[in-house]
Amino acid sequence: MRVLGIETSCDETGVALFDTERGLAADALHSQIAMHAEYGGVVPELASRDHTRRLLPLIQRVLDDAGASRQDLDAIAYTAGPGLVGALMVGASTAHGMARALGIPVLGVHHMEGHLLAPMLEDNPPDFPFVALLVSGGHTQLVEVAGIGRYRLLGESVDDAAGEAFDKAAKMLDLDYPGGPAVARLAEMGDPGRLRFPRPMTDRPGLDFSFSGLKTHTLTAIRQLETEGALDDQARADVARAFEDAVVDTLAIKCRRALDATGLKRLVVAGGVSANHRLRERLEREATKREARVYYPRGRFCTDNGAMIAYAGAQRLHAGEHDEPGQMQAVPRWPLETLGKP
Ligand code: KG4
Ligand code: ZN
Repeated sequence: MRVLGIETSCDETGVALFDTERGLAADALHSQIAMHAEYGGVVPELASRDHTRRLLPLIQRVLDDAGASRQDLDAIAYTAGPGLVGALMVGASTAHGMARALGIPVLGVHHMEGHLLAPMLEDNPPDFPFVALLVSGGHTQLVEVAGIGRYRLLGESVDDAAGEAFDKAAKMLDLDYPGGPAVARLAEMGDPGRLRFPRPMTDRPGLDFSFSGLKTHTLTAIRQLETEGALDDQARADVARAFEDAVVDTLAIKCRRALDATGLKRLVVAGGVSANHRLRERLEREATKREARVYYPRGRFCTDNGAMIAYAGAQRLHAGEHDEPGQMQAVPRWPLETLGKP
C-alpha cells in the first residue's frame, strides 16, 4: 500500500511517500523558519499562506523522487491535529480534495502519534511495548505505548512544553527563533559549574513536568547578571548551559522514573527537542545503567516532517481506518490519550 503523508500543522510543510512493503520511498520538507524568524515566532496566518504555496509543488517533488504518479497512490494521510487550525486546514483540504479526485481513502492522523512512531522508520525499530518521551514545541509527555493506538499517558507538562521553554529562554538571551538549537549552540561554550538552575517537580513523586518556574528563574538570573554589569558573552553562555542542564536533567529523571514504574526496557524519544545532543547523551547513560535501550528518529525526522505522518497513517489505513468522504478534520486541541486505551 502506497500512502502519501502530508504535514502542515505548524511551520514546516512536510510530504512523504511510504510503501508498506518497501518502506519510505521519498520525502521532502519546506521549513518556514526563515520567514517567521523576523517576527521571533510563528505567525499563524503567514504559516497557512505559505503551506498553500508550497504544498502542491512539494507533493509533485516527492512523487517525482519516488518515480511515481498520483495514480500510483493507494491512500493519503494528513495531520488532522493538534496544531494551528488554519495551517491544518491546508493539509486537510488538499488531502481530501486529492483523495476525492483519485477515488482513494484518506485519513487524518494525530501529529504526536506521528512523532512517537517516527523511530519505526529506522533500521532497528523498537518493538512494542515502550515508553515514549515526546518533547516538542507544544508538548512534553511521557506515554506508555502498548501498540499502535494503545497509549496511556504517564505524565505531561502542567504549563510550558520543553521546546517552548527553550524558545523562551532563547528570546531572553536575544537568540534567534527557533530557540532550541540556538540555546544548545550557546551552551556549548558555557561553564557547567557556574550557575545551577532548579529541576522542577523532581523533588516529589510523579511523572508530570513544569517548566514555567525555570523560565522565571532564567529571567531572574539574566537580570541579576545585568544589574551586576556581568552579562558578557561568557555569562550568557553560562546561563544557556545552566538552563539546558536543568531541562535535560529534569527530563532524564522523569524518564528513569517512567521506566522503573512500567518495568519497560525500551525508551523512544521523539519531537523537536529529541534532536538535543546533551539530552541524547544523558538518556543513553541512564538507559545503559538500567539495561534499557533508547530509540530516536534520525535527525531530520525529530522535528516535524511528512514521513512520520505517512508512516502512522499507513498503519491505520492498512487496518481499514479512513475519514468519511468530505469529513476533513482540523482539530487544534486533541489529547493523544483519546486515540485509544491499552
Ligand atoms: O516537533 P517540533 O518540530 O514541532 C512541534 O511539533 O512543536 O519541535 C520544535 C521544537 C522547538 O521548540 C525547538 O526549539 C525545539 O523543538 N528544538 C530543540 C532542538 N531542536 C529543536 N530544543 C533543544 N535542542 C535542540 N537541538
Ligand atoms: Zn511536532
